[in-house]
Amino acid sequence: MTMLRLDKYLTDMGVGTRSEVKVKIRKGQVTVNQCVVKKPDSKVSGLDVITVEGQTVGYVDFEYYMLNKPQGVVSATVDDSNQTVVDLVREKKRKDLFPVGRLDKDTEGLLLITNDGTLSHRLLSPKRHVGKCYFVVAAGVLSERAVTQLEEGVNIGTREQEEWTNTAKCQMLARLSREEFYHEDNVLCDARVREIVRACAMGQECDTESFSVLKLTIIEGKYHQVKRMLQAVGSQVLYLKRLSMGTLVLDDALQEGEYRHLTNEEIASLTKE
Ligand code: URA
Repeated sequence: MTMLRLDKYLTDMGVGTRSEVKVKIRKGQVTVNQCVVKKPDSKVSGLDVITVEGQTVGYVDFEYYMLNKPQGVVSATVDDSNQTVVDLVREKKRKDLFPVGRLDKDTEGLLLITNDGTLSHRLLSPKRHVGKCYFVVAAGVLSERAVTQLEEGVNIGTREQEEWTNTAKCQMLARLSREEFYHEDNVLCDARVREIVRACAMGQECDTESFSVLKLTIIEGKYHQVKRMLQAVGSQVLYLKRLSMGTLVLDDALQEGEYRHLTNEEIASLTKE
């Protein structure tokens, strides 16, 4: 078991900044295995029982959270003007959590938040082709040809500087007229999604008379990839939600902004990706 400095242990566990923690240690507020320890550089391990002002502070190496990211929150660790996805995870112990990959500010859905850099690297490595499945509401009626194009790869760059996407899977769920899309019996989109689409369609002067609802699974993660893919086939994304990443599937029970720990099975399965 790795040994680490007492002040680092306590800082990692969010007890305070390194200097705040040092003050607590020097004041005799910290015990290790029931003995007061006043040296911040004393070596401890996760097996030691450590308390600060009488409260036990357990050590966790890695934390893994599944977040249902809401719109309006940025996929970053810190941001001057916006709430971040890491801010949403209130119970975290570790201070070094980060989101695995990015979702746009207006994208919802599955986001893995962890401090496991090795796992993150594996999931994001372009060589591993980890699938990410998105639920998409797009403007207009996508033709069969457009679906084939999305599956075979489209140029999301420019004519001068082409950028082709890898193969993808596209499952067309419905092509709907405005009346059909906004009809309350339409089970594909709940009332909230319809509201978002309505606002988005008006705000962007996208006066679409029809909608395509689809699931798109991509095996890479280029900047704004899904939005640019839909643009490449003459459409526009009006609503985007990530449903899965590799074996990790968004838990239906999580409302927007809610999160939970990953189960051991979910972690084990992801590390095999
Ligand atoms: N593709 C996008 O365009 N946006 C996202 O947030 C994720 C994938």
